[in-house]
Amino acid sequence: MDSILVTGNGPLSGRIPIAGAKNACLTLMPATLLSEEPLTLTNAPRLSDIRTMTALLQSLGAEVTSLQGGQVLAMSSHDLNNHVADYDIVRKMRASNLVLGPMLARLGHAVVSLPGGCAIGARPMDLHIHGLEALGAEIELRDGYLHAKAPRGLKGAVVEFSFASVGATENVMMAATLAKGTTVLKNAAREPEIVDLATCLRKMGARIEGDGTSEITIEGIDRLHGATHPVVTDRIELGTYMLAPAIAGGEVECLGGRLDLVASFAEKLDQAGVTVTETETGLKVARTGGPIRAVDVTTEPFPGFPTDLQAQMMALLATAEGTSVLEERIFENRFMHAPELTRMGARIEVQGGTARVTGVEQLKGAPVMATDLRASVSLILAGLAAEGETVVSRVYHLDRGYEHVETKLQAVGAKIERIRG
Ligand code: UD1
Repeated sequence: MDSILVTGNGPLSGRIPIAGAKNACLTLMPATLLSEEPLTLTNAPRLSDIRTMTALLQSLGAEVTSLQGGQVLAMSSHDLNNHVADYDIVRKMRASNLVLGPMLARLGHAVVSLPGGCAIGARPMDLHIHGLEALGAEIELRDGYLHAKAPRGLKGAVVEFSFASVGATENVMMAATLAKGTTVLKNAAREPEIVDLATCLRKMGARIEGDGTSEITIEGIDRLHGATHPVVTDRIELGTYMLAPAIAGGEVECLGGRLDLVASFAEKLDQAGVTVTETETGLKVARTGGPIRAVDVTTEPFPGFPTDLQAQMMALLATAEGTSVLEERIFENRFMHAPELTRMGARIEVQGGTARVTGVEQLKGAPVMATDLRASVSLILAGLAAEGETVVSRVYHLDRGYEHVETKLQAVGAKIERIRG
C-alpha cells in the first residue's frame, strides 16, 4: 500500500488549482438514473470514489464514459437492466446509497446494500428511509440490503427531517422530481452540494425551489431530460489547501476558490491570525509572520464550520499559542486523527465529542497512520509544519478524496512524495 513522505520545508508560495467537489459529483452522478437522456458532468474530480460510483452505475446498466482524463463524465441511463446495488461496491463508499431515491423513482423498485465508507460513526439511513416512505415507498431491511418498492408510484408529501442530513435531502429531492404532486422538504440540508444538485436537476427539467434554504419545494413531473452541468468547486479541498500556508507559513492562492463556500471556516482562520483575501481568480491565503492564535471550533451543518475540515483545522491548532476547544457535533467518532497527531508531539485531550488542543511550538515528524479520508490529509498538513520526516501510511483513503495531492503541494514548494508500496 502506498504511503506519503512529507518533510517540513518552510514557507509555501504559489498557486493550487481546486478541483470539482467530490461530494457534489457523487450525488450528481446518480441523477443520471432519473432520465433516459444523457447527462454530462464537466469539472469532475479524478478520484477513486468517482471510479467507485462509475462502477456502481455501470453495474445497474448505465453507460458512464470518462473523457478528458476524467474531467468529463458522459453518462446515459437509457437501458437500466439491474436494480440491485451490490454490497461489494456499496461497502467501499457510503455515498453509494444515493442511487436509492433515483432508482426507486425511475424503476419503481430498488435493492441497495447498506453502505460502508469512512469509519466515522454509525451513519444510519433512517432519515433517507423516512423521507422515501413519506413519498409512498415500502422499504424493508433484509440480509443487509434495503428492499424498496413503490407499487403505486411515488407521491409528493411534506417531509420533515429530524436532522438536516445531506444524503437524505439529496436522495429524497431526486426521488421527488418524478413523484406525482408536490413535495416539501422541511429542515433540509443547505450545503452548496445540494444547491449544485438542484441546479443540475433544474437543467434536466425538474421544478425545484428553495434549495440553499431549509425548505425545498419540488413539483414532480413525468420525465426529466438530458443536460450538461459543471460540478461546483470542492469547498473541502479548498479549505484543506487554504490550511497549507496557514500551517507552514507563506502565501498561496487557491484557484477557483470562493469565499461563500467556506465563509465560516475563513472566519476561524482570520481569528487564528491568517489572512484570506478574494482575488479575481480565487482566494489568497497568507501567513507572513506571528504565531497562530487558539480558536474554538464547533462543527455544524452548512453554513456552520464543516465537519470535513475539523481534522485539518486540528492540525493547525496543534501549533497555536494557547488552548483551543474543538467540538464535533455531526459525527460521534471523528477524532481518530488525534492520537496520530499526538505521535507528532501535539497535545490533545479527547473527551466524548470534545477535543482540547494545546498548541506546541514545534511538531515533530513521525510515522503515522491514515484512518479516514480527512484524517489522512490532516496528517500531511501537520507534516508540512513538523521538523523532520513524517510518513503517512495507508493513504488509500486519501486517494478517495484528493486528486494529485503530492503534485499540488510540490507546486507550492512542499517537500512531499509518494512511496509506492
Ligand atoms: C455528507 C458528506 C460527508 C460529510 C457529511 C456531513 C457526501 C458524499 N458526504 O455525508 O463528507 O461529512 O455530509 O457534512 O456528501 N444520519 C442519521 N440518519 C440518516 C442519515 C444521517 O442519523 O439517515 C446522521 C449521520 O450518522 C451523521 C449525521 O446524520 O451523524 C450527518 O450525516 P449526513 O448529513 O447524512 O452525511 P452524509 O450525507 O452521509
